[in-house]
Amino acid sequence: MIDRLDEFRSTEEHDFFRTYKRLPVAIKRGEGCYLYTDKGDKILDMFGGLAVNVLGYNHPAINEAIVKQLYKYIHISNYFYQEKQLELAEKLLKRSGFSKLFFSNSGTESTEAAIKVIRKFFLGTKKKTLISFSGSFHGRTMGALSLTARKKYRDQFAPLLPEVKHLEFNSPADLDKNIDDSTAGVFIESIQGEGGVNPVKQEFVDKLNSLKSKFGFIVAADEIQTGVGRTGRLHAFEHYGLNADIVILAKGIGGGLPLGAILGNARVEDVFTLGEHGSTFGGNPVAAACGSVIFDMLNNGLMSKITELGNYLIARAESLKSQFPEMIKEVRGKGLMAGIELNKPGGFVVDAMMEMGVLVNCTNENVIRLLPPYIITNKEIDIFIERFTEVLRSAN
Ligand SMILES: Cc1ncc(COP(=O)(O)O)c(C=O)c1O
Repeated sequence: MIDRLDEFRSTEEHDFFRTYKRLPVAIKRGEGCYLYTDKGDKILDMFGGLAVNVLGYNHPAINEAIVKQLYKYIHISNYFYQEKQLELAEKLLKRSGFSKLFFSNSGTESTEAAIKVIRKFFLGTKKKTLISFSGSFHGRTMGALSLTARKKYRDQFAPLLPEVKHLEFNSPADLDKNIDDSTAGVFIESIQGEGGVNPVKQEFVDKLNSLKSKFGFIVAADEIQTGVGRTGRLHAFEHYGLNADIVILAKGIGGGLPLGAILGNARVEDVFTLGEHGSTFGGNPVAAACGSVIFDMLNNGLMSKITELGNYLIARAESLKSQFPEMIKEVRGKGLMAGIELNKPGGFVVDAMMEMGVLVNCTNENVIRLLPPYIITNKEIDIFIERFTEVLRSAN
């Protein structure tokens, strides 16, 4: 019998641009928090499709929403009012307190939309500089890439947008030194995802809020990875009281289907006029129907479960740190977004865990990143901890 994995590998090598390093398994299906390979192996998914599959795999409520909508229409274009978009918009705005929104398809498109809002808002003024921070990731299209500070993603693609500054994350002094009357917008992840699960410091947020009061720039909270309840609040910036004008969303908002959004407060809600921004696929009705399901569940107890489960996961990871102080440097995160920083590169953990049937991710070289579905249980967290303990023990 031909090995499916070998077949996949050779087709990919032949047909695809070289962009993704694939994991060495062929996935057949998913169920709950587990993936099943073509060989019948069961993998506990602690990565949730990179923070997308918030209700795991094959969730009945998501399946039902998809099926119901697909028999009505799967696309009608944004020339029409769309019931499912309207339904999700109401839920999102009610829960978040923001006043208006725009639907896109992905994170990077949401970042682009936010850049356009800021550009238009300050058009004809001296406010032109956009600011983001070291370690940040905001997407891979040219505007978003200009904000993405991590060199490995951006430097090969120059020239990028002019008048973008990358300041040092968590350095209030760097804010003080660089923010002035020319600052138009500040893009910030309250917990950096790709950068290594780095939470913002309260004093940094306080400084940013006070500079905003002084200079009047726009703050865009990138909640693409941290939003939709991931950290136990709807948006991670709520933990810190960041004074955001725009919230940038994607990943979990479509429950597994491509969907993104930006939310704006009263200050920016009327920036665009008809035709100035748009997207053929943005706010797809099937994806919006799934998003609606996610919000119903968040409103009906799921959010507090995320906090409980997250506290358990982080407490158990902390106890591993006490057990293996020479291996684990720090445990960071909130809710179901956790980062375990190792004292050495973490690639071997990903491989060894996969051998043991657990999917984890390693970001920024040495941070084991966990973004499990919200339906994970304490028992499954225990399985992860048990197997991780074994990996650390044998590497020690
Ligand atoms: C914080 C953050 N911003 C932006 C993006 C880009 O999102 P997308 O890949 O949907 O374009 C990501 C994706 O990982 C992200 O984590």
